[in-house]
Amino acid sequence: MRSNTIEISPVGACVGAEIAGIDLREPLAPQVRETVQQAMNEHGVVFFRDQALTEDQHISLARQFGDININRFFSHVPTHPEIALVVKEPDQTRNIGGGWHTDHSYDRIPALGSMLYAREIPPKGGDTLFASMYAAYDALSDGLKQTLEGMRGVHSSRHVFGVKRGDLEGRIGNYELATQDATHPVVITHPDSGRKALYVNPGFTIGFDGWTADESRPLLEYLYRHAQKPEFSCRFQWQVGSLAFWDNRSTWHYALNDYQGERRLLHRITIEGVALG
Ligand code: OGA
Ligand code: MN
Repeated sequence: MRSNTIEISPVGACVGAEIAGIDLREPLAPQVRETVQQAMNEHGVVFFRDQALTEDQHISLARQFGDININRFFSHVPTHPEIALVVKEPDQTRNIGGGWHTDHSYDRIPALGSMLYAREIPPKGGDTLFASMYAAYDALSDGLKQTLEGMRGVHSSRHVFGVKRGDLEGRIGNYELATQDATHPVVITHPDSGRKALYVNPGFTIGFDGWTADESRPLLEYLYRHAQKPEFSCRFQWQVGSLAFWDNRSTWHYALNDYQGERRLLHRITIEGVALG
């Protein structure tokens, strides 16, 4: 249905919104695309329900927001290298993304975000948490904000994707490609929203540029503990046909691993971003 009754309903107080009234199979009219973009700027992650996308439609949808990043570590749909597989089989115990993180912060030009589309969901469990790094930043004291201004974080994929891990065998590969690290401002000015966001994350940030690991740890741990406050987060419960489109620069996410013995399969397309300064 081509509808002009688009409804945007916030999920959390400061992060996440569900958007109803858009059929993602169709090319988006410019003002609809703009509505989605604005909702992303405001809420950091947007959710759509009851979409029935083929792989090609998923790819066309993503292309309307930028170029596609072909993930070098994830396994992909054999016929569609643009689509990474986020999967856990019933006999696998470890999930992908099972801790707070931001995808791609280890890249020099970190991806804008991802469109994750649910194809198989366990009968219960398997939700995803999202946290707003706008809200986390805003809630810091003026003193700490000032201290962080001008600092850079060092981000790496080596400790995550650079080690061969039996528990993720078949799902993650190309360990030898996890070589480059990147630095980014600890506080970024978001390229689309113009808002300031805290840009360090427990998954990939290993220290502050020019600081030792020992010096960095206490402040990073403080920032991680602060940013994990439930007040800054929301929780999304998937159904088959749900699609989440998140902004990597302004949010963290966490895939809950509470569905042992069940299969969970999502298709992820990641969109290229811009340098963060
Ligand atoms: C990801 C990820 C979250 C999930 O695809 O980057 O972390 O809930 N997935 O599967
Ligand atoms: Mn992730």
